[in-house]
Amino acid sequence: MAHQSDKAATLDVNALLTAIAAAPDANAAMRIAVERLKAELPHYTWVGIYLLEGDALVLGPYLGKPSPHTRIPLNRGICGAAASQKATIIADDVNADPRYLACSIETKSEIVVPIMRHGRVFGEIDVDSDRRAAFGAEDRVMLEGVAQGLAERFQA
Ligand code: SME
Repeated sequence: MAHQSDKAATLDVNALLTAIAAAPDANAAMRIAVERLKAELPHYTWVGIYLLEGDALVLGPYLGKPSPHTRIPLNRGICGAAASQKATIIADDVNADPRYLACSIETKSEIVVPIMRHGRVFGEIDVDSDRRAAFGAEDRVMLEGVAQGLAERFQA
């Protein structure tokens, strides 16, 4: 598949993790992560971070079209499922996933990666693509590494 070869290769994950660790605070670290992921990975159409506040996920830094889902209860959406299950979720075809909350009609696939440390969820990285099945093992491993780096920046 053509799209398999033009992905994470262009992103220097170690450089991103260094920048996350060096950022002045968690907000700056999140903005750096969103900017770098969106800028360097063409199949990442929308990149955002939701933060867990009580029993809802609140939209933080993002790049892409404005989303109507600025506050997602933990029992709703693919976002709510990933945070509740404390596990990465990949939807190859969002329209076939009954949990899916639509952000843009162009979106075809999605990956949601919890930002957590010692079992505590602080938030999650959410990436949408306008390509079907855009996210594979390479994206999962890379984004879980970025999420780990971000988790270190939150107060325990
Ligand atoms: N699709 C997500 C909602 C967030 S928007 O994609 C930005 C979901 O199903 O939870």
